[in-house]
Amino acid sequence: MSFGTVQRTMRLRWIVVILLAPVCVLASFAQTRPSARDLLAQMTLEEKVAQLSQLPGIPTDDFKEQVDTAPEEIARKYGAGSVLWVSDPKEINRWQHIAVDESRLHIPILFGLDVIHGYHTIFPAPIAMASSWDPKLVEGAQSVAAQEARAAGIQWTFAPMVDIARDARWGRMVEGAGEDPYLGAAMARAQVLGFQGKDLTSPDHVLACMKHFAGYGAADGGRDYDSSYIPEEAMWNVYLPPFKAAVDAGVGSAMSAYMDLNDVPASGNAWLLHDVLREAWNFQGFVVSDAVAVHSLITHGYARDGDDAAYKAFSAGLNMDMASGTYLKYLAAEVRQGRISMQQIDDAVLPILETKIRLGLFEHPYLDEGRLQQVLNAPEHLETARAAVQRSVVLLRNEHNLLPLDKSGKQIKSVAVIGPLADAEGDLLGMWGNIGKPRPTVSILQGIKNKVGSAVRVEFAHGPNIRRDIASIFEGNPLVPMQEQPKQSAEEAKRAFEDAVAASRRSDVVVMVLGEIGLMSAEAASRSSLRLSGGQQELLEAVAAAGKPVVLVLVNGRPLEISWAAEHVGAILEAWYPGSQGGNGIADVLFGDANPGGHLPVSWLRATGQVPIYYNHNRTQAPEDAPGFRSRYWDILTTPLYPFGYGLSYTTFSFDNLKVSQAEAKVGASLEVSVDVTNTGSRAGDAVAQLYIHQRAGSASRPVRQLKGFQRVSLAAGAKQTIHFTLGPEELRFWSPAKKEWAVEPEQFDVWAGEDSTAKLHGEFRLTQ
Ligand code: BGC
Repeated sequence: MSFGTVQRTMRLRWIVVILLAPVCVLASFAQTRPSARDLLAQMTLEEKVAQLSQLPGIPTDDFKEQVDTAPEEIARKYGAGSVLWVSDPKEINRWQHIAVDESRLHIPILFGLDVIHGYHTIFPAPIAMASSWDPKLVEGAQSVAAQEARAAGIQWTFAPMVDIARDARWGRMVEGAGEDPYLGAAMARAQVLGFQGKDLTSPDHVLACMKHFAGYGAADGGRDYDSSYIPEEAMWNVYLPPFKAAVDAGVGSAMSAYMDLNDVPASGNAWLLHDVLREAWNFQGFVVSDAVAVHSLITHGYARDGDDAAYKAFSAGLNMDMASGTYLKYLAAEVRQGRISMQQIDDAVLPILETKIRLGLFEHPYLDEGRLQQVLNAPEHLETARAAVQRSVVLLRNEHNLLPLDKSGKQIKSVAVIGPLADAEGDLLGMWGNIGKPRPTVSILQGIKNKVGSAVRVEFAHGPNIRRDIASIFEGNPLVPMQEQPKQSAEEAKRAFEDAVAASRRSDVVVMVLGEIGLMSAEAASRSSLRLSGGQQELLEAVAAAGKPVVLVLVNGRPLEISWAAEHVGAILEAWYPGSQGGNGIADVLFGDANPGGHLPVSWLRATGQVPIYYNHNRTQAPEDAPGFRSRYWDILTTPLYPFGYGLSYTTFSFDNLKVSQAEAKVGASLEVSVDVTNTGSRAGDAVAQLYIHQRAGSASRPVRQLKGFQRVSLAAGAKQTIHFTLGPEELRFWSPAKKEWAVEPEQFDVWAGEDSTAKLHGEFRLTQ
């Protein structure tokens, strides 16, 4: 070839290249970010069903019983909608290579895990985060969780858990925001924003999944998985609002609950999954079942067999089968037999593909192992976790200002740190905190030692071990590597008891850390009695009798029976499961480097027999404040030990000057309520201003009080701030069982503002037609 020919050929090539460039760019774009509909058009029925399936990343018998092909083989042959329970980054990349390199259509897998309150940096458990009454804090914490999880290859978290819980016997109260729909909705919104951010494509966010849809917290007798019977008005007014808030905040997925709701299992419940979620709320994401819940429709006695289970779950509106293999086994046959149409299948697959596209999985299917450590070990994550502990603990009692303790060594020379949870590490994370790759945890004992250094002598005594009477189903599960405390002989327990009492005698102050190990307050961790178990009550009484001032720190997932402590112990600090920085954050509060400002998201019972107990109940014909009323129980007061919204501080606050903008307003109008909050003590602190309303009459009885606004404010000593709330149609409406619709009614309303649900400062207004 002559030089001239070469030149001509080169020119021609350039022309071809220039002409084809835009086509190539488009082609490569299309290849990296396909359209969901184009993908669907290329898919076989089996490939579609695989997208509707979540495969167990660790082998399970349930799955094996349905499907004899190994999950990896399925991913290789047909792809997979999702894989769950793989938390190791290397494993995630390995699985992803199978789907992307080896499956016919190269559709990436969506990896899901329970990143409930952190992946590496573990934040306080959700009930604790709700106790902060600080949605910004919650949003920030979940955005850290999202960053860490996404860096580790998890693009989907099974959170937020937004189940309203009014019965502390139920072990999963710890995973939610407590008993109140308004606070629950605020926490749901904050978590969705934290997890998903504004743009799911960003490498720092994950898809959120609101769960468990819906009514799981109302399990009969507080027994996990038991049936819930919830009238429609309670569904709309109490149990559904946090879910609705999550949908409004753009939550991309939902998980159906395990239990029967009004006799129809939630995972096959068309009213929930279709009428409420799709029709009433226009939810555009996809629904996954809870683990194995599709197959469990047979166990419930709702489905005849696997065919029927797949049919009932799918036709109710459930897109993805979590790990039961029932869709894989039966769905294609259902289509071939004409019970389910291809159009229905396509409609169910579409939001799953769209989600993968939104997440940018086609462009970036793999995690960058090189970047991982840098994200996980970001020092600011630890700071956020410590601040979260400081802001979420609730000071329940502080007689004669026992707290804060002096760390200088001048007022106290020694402290005894006592109790079976004082040196706990993994247990401070709660169950789900153990599922990812948790950082080393700072125990409360270590936190106290870090705080006082050599200025104060710290002595530790464990006391007798505490154990569940019936082992947890999660004990020994590699996914959440947690253990019970070892069994002890009666002799060993007695010695541990006596050592603890002796240690308390030798010290100036005692910090007792009691409560529940992580496996005592979690899934499948309901209890019939909420006593301090395993001899802890007896130990507390013996230590208190030894005569030294006692600070009780509670590590637990729900209110416990502490009526004795509430009379006999100097100070009580509710720490919940405080996470990686638990020890440091608690020590900050105990020794006054942080001022507690957390408030209870639940009514604190006096005795287990009071449950379900909640502040926003209706007024009866013999209300507590009526003349002559004694009590509905003859052995105990009806009221809680500590009311919903309650929490102390090292300073004090006064609430005055409640103003309602209009004495009368038209239905549909908004009113402004303002109140002055003053820090009346001598140190800076946070108040949580709470606004409650009551509608005096209407088409239905209305709760005695309902939270309709709150704001956490920091005030310097002596400072005053006016807090403003808006009461608009959204706050004033309720779902009327008489009208079968949402209603704002022309009636008289009461308003209260203050520090908890018993606030006295009162105002009123009337709505007119
Ligand atoms: C729990 C869910 C969880 C799922 C996946 C189930 O047992 O009820 O809350 O998301 O397992 O781990």
